[in-house]
Amino acid sequence: MKISFANSAVPKTGAIVVGVLEGRKLTASAQAVDDATNGALMRAIKASSFKGSAKHSLTVMTPAGRISRVVCMGLGKASDVDALALQALGGRIFSNLKAHAPVAQVLMDELDGCDLKAHEMAAEVALGAKLGSYTFDKYKTKKKDHDGSKLKDFKIFSKSSAKAKAAFEPQDKVCDGVFFTRDLVSEPANVLYPATLAAQAKTLTKLGIKVEILGQAQMKRLGMGALLGVAQGSVHEPKMVIMTYTGKPKHKGAKPSKADAPVAFVGKGVTFDSGGISIKPSGGMEDMKWDMGGAGVVIGLMKALAGRKAKVNAIGVVGLVENMPSGTAQRPGDVVTSMSGQAIEVLNTDAEGRLVLADALWYTNDRFKPHTMIDLATLTGAIMVALGTHHAGLFSNDDELAAELSAAGREVGEKVWQLPMGPEYDKMINSGIADMQNIGERWGGSITAAQFLKRFVGDTKWVHLDIAGVTWSKTGKPTSPKGGTGFGVRLLDQWVMNKLEK
Ligand code: BES
Ligand code: MN
Ligand code: ZN
Repeated sequence: MKISFANSAVPKTGAIVVGVLEGRKLTASAQAVDDATNGALMRAIKASSFKGSAKHSLTVMTPAGRISRVVCMGLGKASDVDALALQALGGRIFSNLKAHAPVAQVLMDELDGCDLKAHEMAAEVALGAKLGSYTFDKYKTKKKDHDGSKLKDFKIFSKSSAKAKAAFEPQDKVCDGVFFTRDLVSEPANVLYPATLAAQAKTLTKLGIKVEILGQAQMKRLGMGALLGVAQGSVHEPKMVIMTYTGKPKHKGAKPSKADAPVAFVGKGVTFDSGGISIKPSGGMEDMKWDMGGAGVVIGLMKALAGRKAKVNAIGVVGLVENMPSGTAQRPGDVVTSMSGQAIEVLNTDAEGRLVLADALWYTNDRFKPHTMIDLATLTGAIMVALGTHHAGLFSNDDELAAELSAAGREVGEKVWQLPMGPEYDKMINSGIADMQNIGERWGGSITAAQFLKRFVGDTKWVHLDIAGVTWSKTGKPTSPKGGTGFGVRLLDQWVMNKLEK
């Protein structure tokens, strides 16, 4: 779907969308359309139960001339119209019209009591419509099963189309990143395995990102016994992908400066998690195709940052493995040695994500000396028990960083919730025969998983996001259809914008 911007006007044909405020108060555009249709709009509103409340809408069919329909979208109170509300509105407009019209003509006005300028409002609506328009239908081969959209052009009219377009442009690039992540998590595991996922990451070279791919032999040389242990039951060779994006103008002066240090994003990329020998029950196991969600976010985020030419130096590292049971698979009780030198007793082969991240985090910290490391992982079922599907779990060794990410999450509607860490939890993963074991006891499973990761990040500022509950949605939202959400891309992009590009 194309998104385009035009200067304010009242179209004479096709499908028109206008806003109506709480109490059946017409916006300026709605009033103009009402005038152009000899009062058909207000007559229809008065005859209906539509009052202009947020999330409600009323469609008036063929009110006059060649206008096919006018969709009145409820805005609620002007003071409640903020960026997130406008994004949701954009998504709702898309859903409302996708089956009915080839072109949506959305008329935006500045509102008394709303802080946003008309062009900013237009850009937010555009973003929401674009995010909501995502589909993954490449495996639907028959047109009739195809629940696709008729909507080809989403056109937004506002006071300054040039300013609206300029405001949307970087967000459009962020959408490209979100869509890339959604595509990756939606792919089935017979198509997407470590080598093919690495090949997808490799496509980012065309955006100026340097992409290195390590294979099994190189990882063996580096001593990545924890990651390799997970991979050894699969026929698919594990990979580690390192993406380097240098967007910050070089610091002046001869010596490399601390200001040039990158931020690093690290992702769990288990392309299928059967559980290994500690095999999972079969019901719902298909969900484990998206156990590479953390890696998907890191790859999509790198695409977003490079796409919008963010002024930041960022490293993305993803550890890619398939966790399968077989004659060569690792056994419960095996002891592996991680790249850090620390030995791990693998009591449960289904607690594999932390083993992958242990080596990925250590490698990243050791090689790049980042000022901050942020990892993302569909790490524990326990985080879904704790937070459900509306917040990701956040764990950190730095409360200020945690607060920054929480704020960025609220801004973009990708909310995170901090959970505690501490020595009481850390000691729950001490092993009788090795430096640590890969599971704790039954309770606090997300926290002990985070404590495990913490043993591989040194003193570097670090956040771990457990995204198991938010990576895939069975219901969908206006800005995120059912399926892969891409949760994390916008959150981290916003945090980079807020904190690292100043
Ligand atoms: N990938 C799973 C966690 C998961 C569960 C993600 C459901 C998304 C939805 C992870 O590898 C796992 O299996 N974790 C175990 C840990 C346990 C063995 C300590 C879990 O949560 O049951
Ligand atoms: Mn698992
Ligand atoms: Zn897993």
